Amino acid sequence: MNKSKFFQILVIMGSIFMILLIILYWDDVGAAHYYLHTTVSKPQSSRLLNSHTPTNQKLYESKEVEMIKQIIGLLSTHKSYSSEDSEKQNLQELNGLISINHEETARGYDWTTHSTHINLDLAKVQAERRRVLQDVCTNSSFQFLGKKRLFDDIPNKELDHLIVDDRHGIIYCYVPKVACTNWKRIMIVLSESLLNQGAPYQDPLDIPRDQVHNSSAHFTFNKFWRRYGKFSKHLMKIKLKKYTKFIFVRDPFVRLISAFRSKFELENDDFYRRFAVVMLKLYSNFTEPPESVSEAFASGIKPTFLNFVQYLLDPRTEKNVPFNEHWRQVHRLCHPCQINYDFIGKLESLDEDAEYLLRLLDMEKILHFPPSYRNRTASSWEMDWFADIPLEWRKKLYRLYEADFTLFGYPKPEHLLNN
Ligand SMILES: *[C@@H]1O[C@H](CO)[C@@H](O)[C@H](O)[C@H]1NC(C)=O
Ligand SMILES: *[C@@H]1O[C@H](CO)[C@@H](O)[C@H](O)[C@H]1NC(C)=O
Ligand SMILES: *[C@@H]1O[C@H](CO)[C@@H](O)[C@H](O)[C@H]1NC(C)=O
Ligand SMILES: *[C@@H]1O[C@H](CO)[C@@H](O)[C@H](O)[C@H]1NC(C)=O
Repeated sequence: MNKSKFFQILVIMGSIFMILLIILYWDDVGAAHYYLHTTVSKPQSSRLLNSHTPTNQKLYESKEVEMIKQIIGLLSTHKSYSSEDSEKQNLQELNGLISINHEETARGYDWTTHSTHINLDLAKVQAERRRVLQDVCTNSSFQFLGKKRLFDDIPNKELDHLIVDDRHGIIYCYVPKVACTNWKRIMIVLSESLLNQGAPYQDPLDIPRDQVHNSSAHFTFNKFWRRYGKFSKHLMKIKLKKYTKFIFVRDPFVRLISAFRSKFELENDDFYRRFAVVMLKLYSNFTEPPESVSEAFASGIKPTFLNFVQYLLDPRTEKNVPFNEHWRQVHRLCHPCQINYDFIGKLESLDEDAEYLLRLLDMEKILHFPPSYRNRTASSWEMDWFADIPLEWRKKLYRLYEADFTLFGYPKPEHLLNN
């Protein structure tokens, strides 16, 4: 590396450091005197800004634009290659950066100020869930893979389940088979990331199912790299510190049954070809299973739950690729010992928890959690599903999912493991 290049990099680093300083400083100013208001609006702002007149609001906007211009000016004087386009991009990115400090106020919702309509029992339940999680994370005699690594050491591709909404300062880690379709819908409405005939979706239920699961509708942590480069981990950590982070979990065995029912008992060609064929070949003596799921179902061929469990326990399964997200352990999807979740919801109390969370976020008036009409897997069926599974396999399966059981306070299913 030649000297002038080195110097250039040094100057750029310096500028970025200054920007970060300005942002941090701005935070304090915002908290003490007035709230910044960008062109993006958020429900909170109306509440927080209601003492200001609209003209004041405009004033802050122009002040902010001014500041961004100054920062960009700073940047571009040192970056000879900065073209108009990249400036525009910078502007967008800075907007993203600066919106962090709205989140200060969004995130700074005071858990006590709305105490008049906050259910104390639910608050206690949350405190208890967080305590259990923390105890397990700090208990050095309970280990599981990836527990001790630092957030910085988590590979980018393992951060693909964390959906960020910069408009409201919310991060949601989605867990498939735990009402994630509906929470993703809510995240789309909040972040206005999908348009319906030119306007953002207002009602979560209007969003078509296939679009909900299209990853391009969600801004996830693993996409930061492309946008922010080597500052992405740093930005993630700022956001993790300031935003409200939530997760919804479910009894791990019931989640597995649910995954099996929806992916292998219903006709799903993708899952049939990728997974069912493997199970049929390896564990059911079908040397040549039918090509497509419709042919297989027509001749009554499908993997059993026993095959599925065998597949999960088979060490060959994860040799090349990790478990599919529908049965991958929650702690591997959401890193609960590295990310300090503010809210841990459970599917077993979904309606209550969802309503409570929306209230904490001060969104209960704008958004309702969509009711779920689908035939939910009930815990009471667990015994029937496991009837054919040998005791030894059940114990192994428990060990495979033990971390999820303990982290999220699900009792060990003794009734399945002792007889
Ligand atoms: C830590 O984990 C071990 C092993 O699971 C358990 O026996 C012990 O009770 C835990 N300790 C605390 C303080 O929770
Ligand atoms: C996901 O959305 C993008 C952009 O809207 C679109 O180009 C792509 O085809 C979609 N993918 C699927 C699998 O539907
Ligand atoms: C598959 O075939 C082998 C050998 O013929 C036999 O031992 C095994 O029991 C069969 N397994 C099943 C699930 O039918
Ligand atoms: C739900 O699914 C279970 C098992 O697949 C079935 O026995 C039950 O009848 C279904 N209930 C409804 C309302 O469809």
